[in-house]
Amino acid sequence: MLTETTISTFAPGRGAVITGGASGIGLATARQLAAFGMRICIADRDRATLGKAQQELTGVARNGADDVLAVETDVSSPDDLERLGEQAFGRFGDIALLMNNAAAFRGGDALSDPEGWRRILDVNVSGVLNGVQSIGRAMVERGKPGFIVNTGSKQGITTPPGNTAYNVSKAAVKALTEGLAHTLRNLPGCQISAHLLIPGFTYTGDAAKRIPVKPAAAWSAEQVAERLVQGLERNEFYILCQDNETTRDQDERRILWAAGDLVENRPALSRWHPDYKDAFDAFMRMPRPAAK
Ligand SMILES: NC(=O)c1ccc[n+]([C@@H]2O[C@H](COP(=O)([O-])OP(=O)(O)OC[C@H]3O[C@@H](n4cnc5c(N)ncnc54)[C@H](O)[C@@H]3O)[C@@H](O)[C@H]2O)c1
Repeated sequence: MLTETTISTFAPGRGAVITGGASGIGLATARQLAAFGMRICIADRDRATLGKAQQELTGVARNGADDVLAVETDVSSPDDLERLGEQAFGRFGDIALLMNNAAAFRGGDALSDPEGWRRILDVNVSGVLNGVQSIGRAMVERGKPGFIVNTGSKQGITTPPGNTAYNVSKAAVKALTEGLAHTLRNLPGCQISAHLLIPGFTYTGDAAKRIPVKPAAAWSAEQVAERLVQGLERNEFYILCQDNETTRDQDERRILWAAGDLVENRPALSRWHPDYKDAFDAFMRMPRPAAK
């Protein structure tokens, strides 16, 4: 829960820019920051949901419509991101949070749907880079404290079979955000830090199109937004989220197993290879040494 003392970087009156902010995790984060008194710019390419979200946030924000800006944006366009930055800085003067969160989901395996691949890389990878290089750079130049949060996915870490295009895009977001964090912390006097938000299964616009009622296994978008605030408060770089079917311990083991493929020279994605099923199951059950 965000309060006046939770995170000094967040303060009523400061601005936040959230891409993909018309729905799901982006909108839940916007709601939380607006209720706290921050001024919110949501950017989304879906005009209808953008208008609805703007109305909703106006009802929550301390100063109503003055504190809410909604900009139709396609994050894959560098020009759109430049324009978004101009509008957000123009209205608020000061941005404490850039959340590069918009994403496309349609993809496929390595041999399918070249058009889907292009789109997913344009939105999920170039879209994040465009945000970092326009609004992120402007935040750095202005010299005030702030956060750049890029939304990744566990699929970018353990890369399960199926939607390889999405996995590749989210693995790129992870590498980009790690590099950004290093660059920022080595810039003299820079008060901007980078963070990777890693949601688990979350019931949002994308899932809601396919599943009418929230499955028990999923977290709500609000839970992810709460976890994001908690992660920023603790200065975590990897803000790893759980959901209602996967514990932190299970996530850690899956991540360790995936890294072990390379170290142990196992076949790629051995977690889903029938010859490694028993070994993986045993690894998931193995007692772990107590943390130091
Ligand atoms: N929902 C999950 O289970 C889950 C899990 C892991 C990661 N994520 C990530 O969380 C982030 C938010 O997704 P969500 O689950 O809230 O989904 P969502 O569909 O509710 O929200 C995504 C938003 O992005 C917008 N968008 C798509 N393409 C865009 C573009 N080119 N330009 C601007 N806006 C665009 C959509 O219109 C939509 O409003 C994404 O980065 C997604 O990859 C979600």
